[in-house]
Amino acid sequence: MEFMDVIRKRRSIRRYKPDPVPEQEIRYIMEAARLAPSWANTQCWRFVVVTDQAIKDRVGAAGNRWIAKAPAIVVACAEPTQPGIKGDQHYYMLDIGIAMEHLVLAAAERGLGTCWIGWFDEAKVKEALGVPENMRVVASTPLGYPAEDPAPRDRKSLEEVFSYNQY
Ligand SMILES: Cc1cc2nc3c(=O)[nH]c(=O)nc-3n(C[C@H](O)[C@H](O)[C@H](O)COP(=O)(O)O)c2cc1C
Repeated sequence: MEFMDVIRKRRSIRRYKPDPVPEQEIRYIMEAARLAPSWANTQCWRFVVVTDQAIKDRVGAAGNRWIAKAPAIVVACAEPTQPGIKGDQHYYMLDIGIAMEHLVLAAAERGLGTCWIGWFDEAKVKEALGVPENMRVVASTPLGYPAEDPAPRDRKSLEEVFSYNQY
């Protein structure tokens, strides 16, 4: 699939078929995340792929309960002190964002659905997954074959999102 087709095809998917995600597909999308760029190549990330139903239920109960119905949930964790901090900007958030979007687009290319999840109780997710004290849980996504085909959401026009030379 052409790169722009993958970008256009991706949607936030909130309903999933029960079919498990094959191991080779999990490895394919994790490889896409692994190859992401990061601050000084620090690669501060660690991803936990949750397939156990009881653990998925605990991760779902930390925020978006519906994600527990997906066959897998990928949880993105980061060690926050490795990448730079510039003023009040913490680059581990950016590094995780890039790696997660690699993962999300690779999933879309393979016909798999995802949905960025940013709203959750971090302490509950950390406890459910045994995430070490020094790590932050930044985001997660359900992963599986879509059981819905949502229409694209509106986006701002090109004119609204960029300009040349001056803001
Ligand atoms: C950083 C981030 C956090 C998000 N958190 C949630 C969330 O907690 N729950 C949810 O249902 N969707 C969440 N979303 C999905 C957005 O609502 C969605 O991307 C947006 O409405 C555009 O729709 P689309 O992804 O289908 O293009 C999040 C998206 C991003 C990028």
